[in-house]
Amino acid sequence: MHAITHTEQAIDDIAKDGYAVIEQFLPAATIAALANQALALKTAGSLRKAVTGKGQHPSSDGLRGDFIYWLESPDSEAQQQYLQAMYELKATLNCSLCMGLFEFETHFAVYPTGTGYTKHLDQLKNTQDRQISSILYLNKNWQDDDGGALRLYLNNSVHEDITPLGGKLVVFLSSRFWHEVLPAKRERISLTGWFRTRSERPV
Ligand code: OGA
Ligand code: MN
Repeated sequence: MHAITHTEQAIDDIAKDGYAVIEQFLPAATIAALANQALALKTAGSLRKAVTGKGQHPSSDGLRGDFIYWLESPDSEAQQQYLQAMYELKATLNCSLCMGLFEFETHFAVYPTGTGYTKHLDQLKNTQDRQISSILYLNKNWQDDDGGALRLYLNNSVHEDITPLGGKLVVFLSSRFWHEVLPAKRERISLTGWFRTRSERPV
């Protein structure tokens, strides 16, 4: 017998329920380093107002309040650890659930106090590339009372509110779950990502 790892538990949960929540996905020091990097990017003016969908004009977009920074190549040990852990998760998902996941794309997201993201689905129009959504929260000492929950709609009448406490990873099937980010009483920081299948190019 061996203790079930958090990854194995997540695979079981995704197979059964379509989503999983993993507490303390990375060590606290790594989470703190990633949070500091997000704040440094903000200070440097490197975050950009996020828009929904493709090619929409930022000014016409009141749906989401976050500022983002796409991670292209890791430039710190903490980012390396994060990407390594996500690649391992991808490999396990491919082996266990035959997902055919190919790429991982990810960005920092900083929601200023009072902002959220209205109810939406993560798959972009006309593509089915995004198979699994992931959010790793980077918020130290987050209290339920701070707001900012991820509201995951399990079906038409039931939802689950997930508190964005630092170290928690949420993964869910991108096509299945409508979800929203409730406004928070403090700044809310995360690393959001998507596992994608290879795009099918038109011939
Ligand atoms: C998103 C999103 C949820 C969260 O970026 O698409 O839904 O909890 N984020 O940050
Ligand atoms: Mn989303």
